[in-house]
Amino acid sequence: MSTNGVEDIYLFDPELLHDLEFEDQKCAIYKPEINPTDPGERLALRPLCISDFDKGYLSLLTHLTKVGDISQEQFEERFQMMKTQPSLYYTVVIEDTATNQVVGSATLVKEMHFIRQCASRGRIEDVVVNSSYQGKQLGKLLVDVLTLLSKKVGCYKVSLECLDKMVPFYSKFGYVKEEGQNYMCRRYIPK
Ligand SMILES: CC(C)(COP(=O)(O)OP(=O)(O)OC[C@H]1O[C@@H](n2cnc3c(N)ncnc32)[C@H](O)[C@@H]1OP(=O)(O)O)[C@@H](O)C(=O)NCCC(=O)NCCS
Repeated sequence: MSTNGVEDIYLFDPELLHDLEFEDQKCAIYKPEINPTDPGERLALRPLCISDFDKGYLSLLTHLTKVGDISQEQFEERFQMMKTQPSLYYTVVIEDTATNQVVGSATLVKEMHFIRQCASRGRIEDVVVNSSYQGKQLGKLLVDVLTLLSKKVGCYKVSLECLDKMVPFYSKFGYVKEEGQNYMCRRYIPK
């Protein structure tokens, strides 16, 4: 239910986050302990909702890169397109329930392939925590949750791209730089 009493729409089934066996399978160390159902005082971790347009979701993403001027209609159209791709897009957010603002987010994209007996692989993208909430283990929680989720939804591997300075952060979750592998990119618009 959203704050205005209208039924909200989740990008994916929230139940998927509840039975992750986080306590047994998490990778990072948490002191104090937090978990997906209890990410901290006045905080809630859940799938992205269509109402998050009004909860500062797009403004949070500006801490990562350019977002542009996106209308509510454009946001909802993109949200519905992502939702109608069955089980391919998993954006999780952390909301400060006192301010009703989204303060952290990350996305798992599941790609389907023919190789490896019609396998799927995962990519983790757009990991971000509002600067006022950094250092509270929320970034770790987001990456741990999506890494566990990638396995749960059947990915045979999960990968991500990051700057050199972020390698120590992602190493906490078992991500390694694979020898001989390079990330190559061709841009059609400048960074
Ligand atoms: C990277 C980011 C998501 C981390 O979120 P956070 O909530 O501050 O991080 P956490 O509190 O969960 O993580 C803390 C741990 O990660 C380490 N860490 C955090 N940011 C780090 C960084 N930039 N580089 C290396 N380690 C980092 C901390 O030292 C700490 O380690 P510890 O658990 O051993 O004490 C956050 O700083 C952010 O949003 N940055 C801007 C956007 C960005 O760069 N995103 C990543 C794109 S690849």
